[in-house]
Amino acid sequence: LSRDKFPKGFVFGTATSAYQVEGMAHKDGRGPSIWDTFVKIPGIVANNGTADVSVDQYHRYKEDIEIMKKLNFDAYRFSISWSRIFPDGTGKVNHKGVAYYNRLINYLLKRGITPYANLYHYDLPLALEKKYKGLLSDQVVKDFADYADFCFRTFGDRVKNWMTFNEPRVVAALGYDNGFFAPGRCSKPYGNCTAGNSATEPYIVAHHLILAHAAAVQRYREKYQEKQKGRIGILLDFVWYEPLTRSKADNYAAQRARDFHVGWFIHPIVYGEYPRTMQYIVGDRLPKFTKEEVKMVKGSMDFVGINQYTAYYTYDPHKSKPKVLGYQQDWNAGFAYKKKGVLIGPKANSYWLYNVPWGLYKAITYIKEHYGNPTVILSENGMDDPGNVTISKGLHDTTRINFYKGYLTQLKTAVDEGANVVGYFAWSLLDNFEWRLGYTSRFGIVYVDFANLKRYPKMSAYWFKRLLQRNKH
Ligand code: GCO
Repeated sequence: LSRDKFPKGFVFGTATSAYQVEGMAHKDGRGPSIWDTFVKIPGIVANNGTADVSVDQYHRYKEDIEIMKKLNFDAYRFSISWSRIFPDGTGKVNHKGVAYYNRLINYLLKRGITPYANLYHYDLPLALEKKYKGLLSDQVVKDFADYADFCFRTFGDRVKNWMTFNEPRVVAALGYDNGFFAPGRCSKPYGNCTAGNSATEPYIVAHHLILAHAAAVQRYREKYQEKQKGRIGILLDFVWYEPLTRSKADNYAAQRARDFHVGWFIHPIVYGEYPRTMQYIVGDRLPKFTKEEVKMVKGSMDFVGINQYTAYYTYDPHKSKPKVLGYQQDWNAGFAYKKKGVLIGPKANSYWLYNVPWGLYKAITYIKEHYGNPTVILSENGMDDPGNVTISKGLHDTTRINFYKGYLTQLKTAVDEGANVVGYFAWSLLDNFEWRLGYTSRFGIVYVDFANLKRYPKMSAYWFKRLLQRNKH
């Protein structure tokens, strides 16, 4: 495996998100986001960790960019914190926040690293949650488009790769179905989450996310794209659902799972409507697009980012008609990590993550075959170790090297067979704040000593360095 086995111009980078790496959460004028209050609820984050400081990329961005450079990466995918730009979500601009992203972008360019900017990675300004219940209100569509517009106008002379939302499925399902992510609402009582909403909220929120995405893309295309010559897309997470058996029933269950997971977003964007399975099962709880909205949503991407980590076996739980208890029940699908007693792949540290390289191949090929072979960026891929590994163990991450080898080999096969994939981003450059797992999960190819924030490239980082070095002849 080496860089020149991939098509000419194929881009390799690493990815992070603002809240997970920046720190300075309450400083230099940044307004709070829904995550800032969420993490303060006792017991929500492992060891009650917060991202107030995180790995302090706000101050250490130059050092981090030098590391990317040293490791031969071409690009960096980061996110912009909405409430660092607009502390209240709308209105007054925080110029210190703007200055930070200018410094980051300019230094990337200075060192020859292409910026890929994502506008939303879970961190809704808290002010909008308070003002109108955030993503549950359609007011967020215009406010997001205005924020996006400001970013295009301010940074678009230098940023040519834009992404609107990261993993809208996670936002809708974890934020409004099981309450695992901010703002912690659920469609049936789970754990200590009791804000029952009869499984309507995930669909309403997803609908607003799709409209907000499309409205931002429309602004970009109407006002900026021609002049700035950039491209814009969305980032979707895609677990591969493999039928547990060859039965028709299990095949349908896996198809439902794919529709509810990735089809939920890519289907409207490519075809202008939700997948038929969703329309049938969700019925009246599924919002409808008006004719005008269909026009705006359909075709609203120049590329799609796919975050791909893992795969599960999927089976039909043999319920004739799904009994609606919650959003997840609508899928009417069961999941298994094992088949005939054998794990689908070695488990990483995170409970949801199994090393299944062929899942990536199938996911990419599925997008190619079902959605007209769109331009794809493999926008996240990686695995974690436990947070408490010693530095010497942490640096010796041969398991991670195996993981990347396996997935990149499968990616290459999909590309050789015609999938239009143009880039690959490893998650993540650094160990960082892993949401509910806080600092007990390390996804970085660079180890961070959380006590003093020193960075140490792991063996996997050097593996990438060799993979990406350019042939001298
Ligand atoms: C995302 C992810 C990242 C995670 C990574 C590992 O939505 O892009 O949640 O923020 O850190 O996927 O879990």
